[in-house]
Amino acid sequence: MGKAVFITGTGTDIGKTVVTSFLAFAFEQMGWKTAIYKPIQTGLAEDGRSFAEQYWYETRMEQKAAGLYCMEPAVSPHFAARLTNTTIEPKMIQQKLSELKHQYDFVFVEGAGGLAVPLIETEAGFYMTKDLIRDGELPIIIVSLAGLGAIHHAVTTVSYAKQHSLDVIGLVINQFDNQNAIHVDNVRTIQRLLDLPVLAKIPVLPNASKQALKELAQTWIERGEQTLLLGGLSVEV
Ligand SMILES: Nc1ncnc2c1ncn2[C@@H]1O[C@H](COP(=O)(O)OP(=O)(O)O)[C@@H](O)[C@H]1O
Ligand SMILES: [Mg+2]
Repeated sequence: MGKAVFITGTGTDIGKTVVTSFLAFAFEQMGWKTAIYKPIQTGLAEDGRSFAEQYWYETRMEQKAAGLYCMEPAVSPHFAARLTNTTIEPKMIQQKLSELKHQYDFVFVEGAGGLAVPLIETEAGFYMTKDLIRDGELPIIIVSLAGLGAIHHAVTTVSYAKQHSLDVIGLVINQFDNQNAIHVDNVRTIQRLLDLPVLAKIPVLPNASKQALKELAQTWIERGEQTLLLGGLSVEV
């Protein structure tokens, strides 16, 4: 039985998809059978036909990605579901996840938006992303940016995760520039405030290509930086 981990972010457009590709490449390079799972996606890709994440993973990165609910409107899942008459069933999401865990060593599950994103609206209330994570008993990785505003977003996201007893493995800092004093101090401050490991720092990749992400994954492994994440996943190293 494989392990699954949930990739969330401090917001939308933070780089969850890019980071999920990076992690999947890295784990494949380490020799594990690795899957990507994006249970709920909304919005279309630049080709105006494919779903945004499917296009990124399958066309741009040539990675296989399992999906379940794909809805065209680029809005919150609960609203997209209403607009498209889709019934999102948490049981189906968990069932697919369980199938993938049986087939793969690691499953990287990409969330939609952040932790406080509603997925389903019923008379009784909302089923949120944090509920999906709790039901799947998934540890989480939080993708954060490094620029102005990042401290607040990281601190509030982690505070929400703790409030709901989610298991945060650590942070991935995306679009990090080690020559930028704000970035360097933000990452240091976030680490001190949250007492969480920074699992990876991803620079801006001017050409966010498969090749660039695979090379970055290789460097990450060569530097031994993967050990923190493996430790967080209780994998013997
Ligand atoms: N490190 C990076 N270097 C270059 N472009 C990036 C990087 N991270 C994200 N992007 C770009 O920013 C946009 C949002 O990233 P994405 O991974 O789709 O975010 P999310 O999944 O959180 O919505 C995409 O166009 C993506 O290609
Ligand atoms: Mg995404």
